[in-house]
Amino acid sequence: NLTIALLVIGAYLLGSISSAVLICRALGYEDPRTLGSGNPGATNVWRTSSKNAAVITFITDLLKGALPVWLALKLGLSSLEAALCGLAAMVGHMLPIFFRFRGGKGVATYLGACLSIDPLLALSQISLWLVTMLAFRRASVASITCALATPVICYWQLSELLPVLGLMSLLLIISHRNNIRRLVAGNEQRL
Ligand code: G3P
Repeated sequence: NLTIALLVIGAYLLGSISSAVLICRALGYEDPRTLGSGNPGATNVWRTSSKNAAVITFITDLLKGALPVWLALKLGLSSLEAALCGLAAMVGHMLPIFFRFRGGKGVATYLGACLSIDPLLALSQISLWLVTMLAFRRASVASITCALATPVICYWQLSELLPVLGLMSLLLIISHRNNIRRLVAGNEQRL
């Protein structure tokens, strides 16, 4: 129906706002797309600009996923329909219409969508991300591990969302293809 269509389009457009690029520009830092991994995301902003800019980028990217899902649920849409809005926001972040379709990897936006779906799911993702990050010192390993674990976690409590969250995990892994190549070659940067 019309509400879902409008929310999905709105979520895609919101996701298309590349926070990392705009925040670095506003704070006078170099464009993260030209430095480090070249990824416009919180990890690369942390690596190439400042920790404060990275935290602001992370929160903004998280909100891009959280707000559309929260709004969809507030408007009485089903959790599956709300999750579709999260998927649209993530696609916007990865393929932003305002930034020549060259976007980020979708980790924070995926987490934001999960936060609005089920805060406990987001808490387990954050915990797993931090533990993996501390163990391997590579953000990509932590993000890929979370992407693989999320459908498994969802299987018990949120099985109706498995198709959408599984697709989001798949997109996240695809967006890390260059990281995976570097990990296999043994030259992925530590953080
Ligand atoms: O959040 C993205 C992270 O998983 C990888 O980022 O910059 O190391 O490619 P990066």
